[in-house]
Amino acid sequence: MTLDVGVIGTGMIGQDHIRRLTSVLSGARVAAVTDVDLDRARAVADGVPGSVVHDTGQALIDDPGVDAVVVTSWGPTHEEYVLAAISAGKQVFCEKPLATTREACDRIVDAEVATGKRLVQVGFMRRFDPQYRAMKAVVTSGEIGAPLLMHAAHRNPSVPDFFTSDMTINDSTVHDIDVARWMFDDEIAAVTVLKGRISRKAKAGFNDPLLVLLEMRSGVIVDVEAMVNAGFGYDIRGEVVCEDGTVELSESAGAVVKLAGRYSGRVPETWKERFVGAFDLELQAWVDAVSAGGSTGPSAWDGYAATVACETGLAALRSGLREEVVLRERPDLYAKEGVA
Ligand SMILES: NC(=O)c1ccc[n+]([C@@H]2O[C@H](COP(=O)([O-])OP(=O)(O)OC[C@H]3O[C@@H](n4cnc5c(N)ncnc54)[C@H](O)[C@@H]3O)[C@@H](O)[C@H]2O)c1
Repeated sequence: MTLDVGVIGTGMIGQDHIRRLTSVLSGARVAAVTDVDLDRARAVADGVPGSVVHDTGQALIDDPGVDAVVVTSWGPTHEEYVLAAISAGKQVFCEKPLATTREACDRIVDAEVATGKRLVQVGFMRRFDPQYRAMKAVVTSGEIGAPLLMHAAHRNPSVPDFFTSDMTINDSTVHDIDVARWMFDDEIAAVTVLKGRISRKAKAGFNDPLLVLLEMRSGVIVDVEAMVNAGFGYDIRGEVVCEDGTVELSESAGAVVKLAGRYSGRVPETWKERFVGAFDLELQAWVDAVSAGGSTGPSAWDGYAATVACETGLAALRSGLREEVVLRERPDLYAKEGVA
């Protein structure tokens, strides 16, 4: 069976997921697309034989020829489309963020819980990255003892002009926030953000880099260096320190060359290069789960918890204080989490 997917938002990642669904993955095809920029949607559909263009996201969701929906429009528009997909009883893959406010995420969680079944997967693709998965397997095996600390770094070479200072937390650190919750199967209890010396490359109004401290409920502390002007490449670091040993992400791209008393390797240029495989695995897992009548991966609860942690992180950035993360009670629907 082929899953007929409708894609809302044919911008950068929307086009990338359409390419993936059309030419990389198995079991799915793109049946319909839409965008507020209809010319862009039409241009994209021209390259996808058999796809139709809808004037609105609602019309795409209502199309009986669309089995499941991918939402890749701007963050503030996600709530509307995810709620509409839930209301139509259709599975929806929503790029992060699930929604941009705690209240909007609440509404999505409430709507999904009311259906009694999981319909939402959120695009936290690091959970599908083979290196992170290998790291989590070691941590959960217990072979190096109980986890104590995690050191992480999220270094962007640079960011585009539309990138605002809040996006260092909302768009970059959000991935480390999700990794921390997933790695330790735990919620974040509190966030502190330290502003240090500002890079000469930082834009006006940016505190770059930031050191974001996440305290997990278990007491594990995760420190995340969030830097958006590293210059040299897209560099993702992670090391979990346990009682008896440590486990860390290996160098991510290409082979290590040893020559003339030195060694060298490639640093990925962009997040797309670093995580291309994770995006493939993430969307294939969604297609497979939906085709089998189920769901997997990061849930609406994970999207809610990440958005609340980001809001708390921004409060901590502004106050300079340790801010506690206040979550609603987790509905039972999310107790039986999928493997990812
Ligand atoms: N998982 C990741 O690492 C990752 C990476 C990149 C982007 N994203 C997320 O994907 C989403 C899209 O990002 P992007 O970089 O592709 O942005 P983009 O600006 O390139 O594309 C967004 C598209 O959505 C369209 N759009 C805006 N409002 C709409 C609406 N109401 N209805 C239909 N279409 C609408 C825009 O016209 C545009 O074509 C964002 O939420 C972003 O955070 C996630």
